[in-house]
Amino acid sequence: MEKQSKIYIAGHRGMVGSAMHRKLISEGFNNIVVRTSAELDLTNQHTVAQFFEQEKPEYVFLAAAKVGGIIANNTYRADFIYQNLMIESNIIHQSYVHKVKKLMFFGSSCIYPKLAPQPLKEDYLLTGALEYTNEPYAIAKIAGIKLCESYREQYGCNFISVMPTNLYGYGDNYHPSHSHVMPALIRRMHEAKINQAPFIEAWGTGSPLREFLFVDDLADACYMLMQEYNEKQFINVGFGEDISIKDLIYLIKETIGYAGEIKFDSTKPDGTPRKLMDIQKLKNMGWTPKISLQEGIKLAYHDFLNGNFRSI
Ligand SMILES: NC(=O)c1ccc[n+]([C@@H]2O[C@H](COP(=O)([O-])OP(=O)(O)OC[C@H]3O[C@@H](n4cnc5c(N)ncnc54)[C@H](OP(=O)(O)O)[C@@H]3O)[C@@H](O)[C@H]2O)c1
Repeated sequence: MEKQSKIYIAGHRGMVGSAMHRKLISEGFNNIVVRTSAELDLTNQHTVAQFFEQEKPEYVFLAAAKVGGIIANNTYRADFIYQNLMIESNIIHQSYVHKVKKLMFFGSSCIYPKLAPQPLKEDYLLTGALEYTNEPYAIAKIAGIKLCESYREQYGCNFISVMPTNLYGYGDNYHPSHSHVMPALIRRMHEAKINQAPFIEAWGTGSPLREFLFVDDLADACYMLMQEYNEKQFINVGFGEDISIKDLIYLIKETIGYAGEIKFDSTKPDGTPRKLMDIQKLKNMGWTPKISLQEGIKLAYHDFLNGNFRSI
């Protein structure tokens, strides 16, 4: 990518897209094309075709998607599979039609089988059943990977896919019931502190192990991959270490300074028991994360306090 290259970031107002946008601007890129969902509905085949015809981007970051936590994924199952399939199909096909030089598709670690061995290697894709709660979303994301692979194989398109682990940080979604575990916990703990609640209830048993990557670290890795990675196989982007939800809760409690008790509600779903990415492929390219979990939680909490977040 040259500094003047025309780069389209789909989903530039989202957590991932906005981190990618910040990164490209900080690296001196000055020809970035963006559209909000109100300006361009990416589920609409006709308007996406018109947009590509008009703008003819040279590079595409496909970070637009319908995204949410366990409850949202499980409740809006049709919306999650339909909208994600449409967004990916429309952008990837038009990128082929308009000879985009390179495209990066963002997937998610939920594409892996529920009980796959840990840490999750790229080779484990499609080796077992998926977690039921987010199966429609995961199927759509797997379809996105297969679209990139297939357009590469049939038409020689340089379309790559990255699979980020759980992300958190600037511009996250703090909706009380539709958000991911990290922002949901930050918000609930903050509110409990303000309201001087004697205790808060946390979903599940606290035993599942999860990995978290600060979103600016993701953007840093993806910037490097967009320049240097040209393989058919998708690549994991993670932190490389996991933490139990219980330990995470105590870390957030400490950062926020909440003095009350934590009660675990084991009637709520835990989800997959463990999810840790194997990031050896990425490490072999010389990349490691730079933001620790402690530091990242502090940065995310400040962002939340500054009101730079969404709640949708
Ligand atoms: N967040 C995570 O923890 C995480 C983890 C792993 C992978 N990922 C992947 O990263 C990607 C982006 O996630 P994110 O967390 O950045 O999501 P996000 O914050 O919810 O942002 C998604 C963006 O997609 C856009 N969008 C959604 N539907 C659209 C439509 N019909 N037409 C046009 N734009 C549409 C939205 O645009 P507007 O703002 O203009 O409405 C929004 O900015 C997803 O593919 C996701 O699977 C995320």
